[in-house]
Amino acid sequence: MSRHIVTMLPANRLWLSEAALGMLQSLRYYCQETPRKLRICEAISNLEVGTKIKVQGWVRSVRPQKENLFLHVNDGSSLQSLQVVASSELNHRLLTFGSAVEISGSLVTSPSRKQDVELQADQIDVVGECNPVDFPFKIKEKHGLEYIRQFPHLRCKTNAFSSLLRIRSEATTAIQQYFKEKGFIQVHTPVLTSNDCEGAGELFQVEPAGQEKNQDEEGHQHFFSVPAYLTVSGQLHLEVMAGAFPGVYTFGPTFRAENSQSRRHLAEFYMVEAEISFTQSLEDLMKVMEDLFRSTTEHLLSQCPEDVALYHKHVSPGYRDYVDLMMKKRFNVITYTEAINILNSSSNKFAFKTDWGSDLQTEHEKYLVKHCGNVPLFVTDYPYALKPFYTRDNQDQPLHTAAAVDLLVPGVGEMCGGSLREERLDLLKSRLAQAGLDETYGWYLDLRRFGSVPHGGFGMGFERYLQCVLGVDNIKDVIPFPRYSRSCLL
Ligand code: 4AD
Ligand code: MG
Repeated sequence: MSRHIVTMLPANRLWLSEAALGMLQSLRYYCQETPRKLRICEAISNLEVGTKIKVQGWVRSVRPQKENLFLHVNDGSSLQSLQVVASSELNHRLLTFGSAVEISGSLVTSPSRKQDVELQADQIDVVGECNPVDFPFKIKEKHGLEYIRQFPHLRCKTNAFSSLLRIRSEATTAIQQYFKEKGFIQVHTPVLTSNDCEGAGELFQVEPAGQEKNQDEEGHQHFFSVPAYLTVSGQLHLEVMAGAFPGVYTFGPTFRAENSQSRRHLAEFYMVEAEISFTQSLEDLMKVMEDLFRSTTEHLLSQCPEDVALYHKHVSPGYRDYVDLMMKKRFNVITYTEAINILNSSSNKFAFKTDWGSDLQTEHEKYLVKHCGNVPLFVTDYPYALKPFYTRDNQDQPLHTAAAVDLLVPGVGEMCGGSLREERLDLLKSRLAQAGLDETYGWYLDLRRFGSVPHGGFGMGFERYLQCVLGVDNIKDVIPFPRYSRSCLL
């Protein structure tokens, strides 16, 4: 041990070496003179008034007056900015809208009723300049979501997108919390896979870059022994794990090569998927979907009320009433057959056909939700022929439906898709054989051989959930970096 360390001598007297004394003195000096670095949400919380603080952030407004300079500084920790008051001597030509700054001063009670506290600046450093002429966002203008979407590398600097990112982050936490509290195990399902779970052929194939011919010296065609794709769903991997746990879930990026320019489709989106063992009822699945929606939304409304209010005020005025209604009322449940009857007895002219056996299109889904009172709507028991191989056969010929359920929500349409899984080995085998998939899914059939249990699950589109709660029309506005067909990749 070094002799410069604090040592304890008899009679509990503290003896300090010279070096340690020096260190203590500089520590005291540091404590007195160095302002405490606070995040802006901490600074405006009113708890640190009277202290010397330092904040770091980006300038949201600059108002030079004769004697004083007023700034608003935001660091993304909250929708609110901190008002900074400085002597006009501290003004600087580089202190512009968008510039990055570090400011030290005293946190004081603000004389204005607009805010509780403000920072009286002693020192302002411009860390990164921002030319206001070239910067695409202007200080006095209110930019719409469509405008800011053109700048995916800069839009986090706007109030709307910064709120969105905080909401997304909180929603992620809430979803994890929900599943943790319910005893689900999180499974990291793979992104690279050989299966097309949904069977819709919307796959992105993956091969190593730079290979002229996808063939190595030994004549192997692919990097893996089979063609590899980006996952369209983690369901089949979750089903594996549902063979050893009562409840599992995954939450990750999902890929679909849909050539769709729609307001609710992306080529890369986030999906929350859950798989529940020992269940033979769609009601069990619907309960989890509804509870997940409610607990996540409650969390958002209580943890980021200002951010959510920004959307309900400026992006989708009046939308809060819909959210309140969704939270107040129980979700509705109808069968696919009832849905078709509703559509066929409507005076609406739909672009797509509505005869029994046709898939529900967005226009139908939105109509059904409205028709049923603008609260989320479960539609159950779809035609067997419309559903992927894993869906449980209801064996209700001549109608012939499958135990599948979609959750439709206001403004968006389908937000969740789920089903009971076919656990009967013979039925599953013959369906896979009909589709010529029995060899590909040999391992999947094994799941029904070794300790198989009736089970089911669902997937919730995370972006569609955010659209539904915030009233955002275009899915590209609720994901940090949207990927869709013919889009540029940053
Ligand atoms: O209905 P889908 O295709 O269901 C599945 O993938 C099941 N294997 C899930 C499961 O049971 N584990 O997709 C589930 C949800 C949809 O309801 C929708 O909200 C979202 O994923 N989704 C998309 N979101 C954005 N862009 C796309 N291209 C989407 N495709 C599906
Ligand atoms: Mg679906």
